[in-house]
Amino acid sequence: MLAVIGGSGMAQLSCLEISHREIIRTPYGEPSGPFTFGRINNQEIVFLARHGHGHTIPPHQVNYRANIWALKTLQPEHVIAVAAVGGIRDYMSPGSLAVPDQIIDYTYGRDFTFFDSRDEPVTHIDFTRPYTPETRVLILKAARQAGKTIIDGGVYAATQGPRLETAAEINRLDRDGADIVGMTGMPETALAREQGLNYATLAVVANFAAGRGNNVEGVPLKEIYAILDQAMVHVRNILEHVVNCYGDQNGT
Ligand code: HPA
Repeated sequence: MLAVIGGSGMAQLSCLEISHREIIRTPYGEPSGPFTFGRINNQEIVFLARHGHGHTIPPHQVNYRANIWALKTLQPEHVIAVAAVGGIRDYMSPGSLAVPDQIIDYTYGRDFTFFDSRDEPVTHIDFTRPYTPETRVLILKAARQAGKTIIDGGVYAATQGPRLETAAEINRLDRDGADIVGMTGMPETALAREQGLNYATLAVVANFAAGRGNNVEGVPLKEIYAILDQAMVHVRNILEHVVNCYGDQNGT
């Protein structure tokens, strides 16, 4: 089974033939909503809207631990996390798609680990390559098969939100080597690794980041949703191809 976490602009997966919905309880509280099960081209898919069905949960209040823990119980082969981001580099222009290969965490005050029990031995994870290479390749291959241009690699800066950044903050992220900026990449990516899930992000550039491109005076928030709406058509098309690539690999 493949899992898809939908971000802003993707509260549902319209190409999914839904079979049922399931509420999964976890020791960490409630996930963002029920998990939707169904099929795309006859492959089993489970979908979760990160911000809730009605897009009501802000990035800093998403229960990332509950979401990832619940997903783990379903044992998906791959988790594809769709995420809206701002573009810091010129080539990360609105509407671009990217599969980042690195991440920097600037978030704070979030429950960021499963390994904080005093009753268990101290546990570390390797996080040199934060995204699973096979899952990244699956997305990249699918995008190419779908005939979509997609950027292979990039550093995702995870900020706290829910406000957008200042121009100076974006300049700092730029100096740190970040290419795109979003609010949900962490701790989700690290928690997925802690649970041993194959996880990668399909980033959708919704806007130029603060002070970049034509956003010197401000980021036009209304345009973000219009861009996301347009881009989601491509994302859905890529996901359909992900399913096919995965099916080809597995002979199903
Ligand atoms: N900054 C942070 N998160 C975002 C942005 C941004 O400019 N655009 C979409 N998500």
